[in-house]
This record gives sequence, C-alpha cells and structure tokens, in this order.
Amino acid sequence: MNRIPVWMDCDTGTDDAVAIMLAHASPELELLGISTAGGNTVQDLAYWNTQRLNGLLGTAYPVYRGAEKPLIRELKIATLFHGENGLGNVNLPVPENAVVPEENAWEALYACAKAHPGELRLVATAPLTNIAIALGLHPDLSELLHSILLMGGSAGAGNVTPAAEFNIHADPHAAGIVFRSGARLFMFGLDVTLQEALTADDLDELGSCGAKAGAFVRACLQCYMKGVRRYGLTGASMHDACPVMYLIHPELFEGELAGVAVELSGSVTVGKTVTDLYSDKQFPFKNATVMLKLDGDRFISILKERILSLG
Ligand code: RIB
Ligand code: CA
Repeated sequence: MNRIPVWMDCDTGTDDAVAIMLAHASPELELLGISTAGGNTVQDLAYWNTQRLNGLLGTAYPVYRGAEKPLIRELKIATLFHGENGLGNVNLPVPENAVVPEENAWEALYACAKAHPGELRLVATAPLTNIAIALGLHPDLSELLHSILLMGGSAGAGNVTPAAEFNIHADPHAAGIVFRSGARLFMFGLDVTLQEALTADDLDELGSCGAKAGAFVRACLQCYMKGVRRYGLTGASMHDACPVMYLIHPELFEGELAGVAVELSGSVTVGKTVTDLYSDKQFPFKNATVMLKLDGDRFISILKERILSLG
C-alpha cells in the first residue's frame, strides 16, 4: 500500500490528541512529523503533551517546537475545554526516551516537504502561526506541499465569537497568509466539524474495553464534555480529527471550491473566514475547498473503531 505522507501541526489539546491517535491508527497514512504551537494551551505544554502521546502509544514520532504566540495578537488559551494542562487535566508521563530535535517546527516542516515533493499532506489543527512562518521563510513550500488540510474557520457562525472560530481568531494574520499562499487548501470549518460529536455513551464505550487508548480518550474528554454541556450540547465534536478522517475516508465529506478571505481588523468580526459561497458577489479567486457536509454517524463509528484498534 502506498501510504499517504502526512505532517501534523497541533496545539495538543484534547481533540488534537484524538486526531494524532486517529492518524497513528490509520495504516493508510505515514505520519512523518508533528509540530506544535500555542493555542489550546501554551506551546511548551502542547509540545510535551504531544511527546506524552508518544509515550501512551509507544511511538517515537518526531515532535518539533514551534511558535510560542501568534504573529501579532496575544495568546489566549482555552482551558475551559482542554483543562489547565491541555489534556483535560489527565496526567500522562513524559516518555523517558523522548528526543527533542534541534530543528524548529518551520524548518523541519520545510525539510520534510522538500523530501516528499508534491506529496506531503499538511494537517493543521492549531492556529496557523507555524505554517505562516514556514511560508514566509520558504514561499516555495506552497508548491512543495500536496495540500494543506486545516481545521479552522466557518462559512457560518463562529465558536469563540459569533463570527470567528478559535484557530483562525487566535492568529488571523497567520490565517490570512495561509489563505493567500496559493497552496491547495481544504478547509474543515465548524460547518462540517459540528456534524459529528462523541457522546457520553461513546466515551463510556471507549473506556469500558480495557484498552489504554480508549481509556485515555474517555478520561481526557471529561473536561471537554463539561464545557460543551454549558452550551447545551450533548457531545464533544472532534474538530481536529476531521482533516485526518478525510485522508482515509474522503467519501464521508462534501465540499465546494470557494473564495475565502480572513477578516483582520473588524472589532466584532476579526478572525472571521469570509466566503463567497452564499453570495452573488464572488471573490476574484477560488482558494479553498470548503467542507460543508459530513456523514457524522459513520465518522464517529470509524473513529471509535480506529481508537479501539490501538489497544
Ligand atoms: O475551534 C476548534 C479548534 O480550536 C480545534 O482545533 C480545537 O483543538 C481548538 O484548537
Ligand atoms: Ca486544535
């Protein structure tokens, strides 16, 4: 099987952790590296949380340190959903054999893209700071990458404000750079990520099989579940798993090519991904496939099956 080369850029966080576990549980994919940025939690915790996942999974994925803060805005972390430590306050040990590479995130990502010209899929589940820096230092990265599959934005409402989704709102300047880069973009916004969610019963199912991975997912998402209940929701959307799931089951998704621009200055709309999907006024560019539909039931069923396969 020709495995699909993948790089993940994460702010590990709980749904980032689930996305990494899904990638690891998918033999269709070859996870070549993971870089971390501040977002759900501070960069240092996102980094060591990702190393902790290596310990849980018994893996040695190379993990590279990235940006401590957004390009211009101040970092605002999301402890309500991800806890003080970014993993729902679950304590995972740092593996004793953890290797901390010298290279930073953007140089390591560029080197990997050069080693896999035209093939590397970049899955972005954090604010886009690292990717904007990499594109700024190496503009040819947009052609070297096969595509960027980013969890962020929405054609409709936001989650961190009525207009903006968390990852884009956290670093709208970086997002603007990525959307203008000319890279082949697939946008997995709230329009599609909110069509799936793990319920309390799903988490009990994952936690009751005696498997380490399932038990961790159940434990680390308890904080997230409390957070979503405050908003009257009954399940935790695994936003960051969507771009990974697309790589292994694209048939679950439907999207449309559109023009997408990022609002940088509106006091109410800053961080909004403005699309021309529902307007007769079209942007003079079509720069992203915006995902709009998802078979949420099949998504959750496959996600649980893959997590349970990890033992
Ligand atoms: O809005 C959802 C996104 O914000 C996800 O990437 C989640 O991990 C948080 O970073
Ligand atoms: Ca994330």
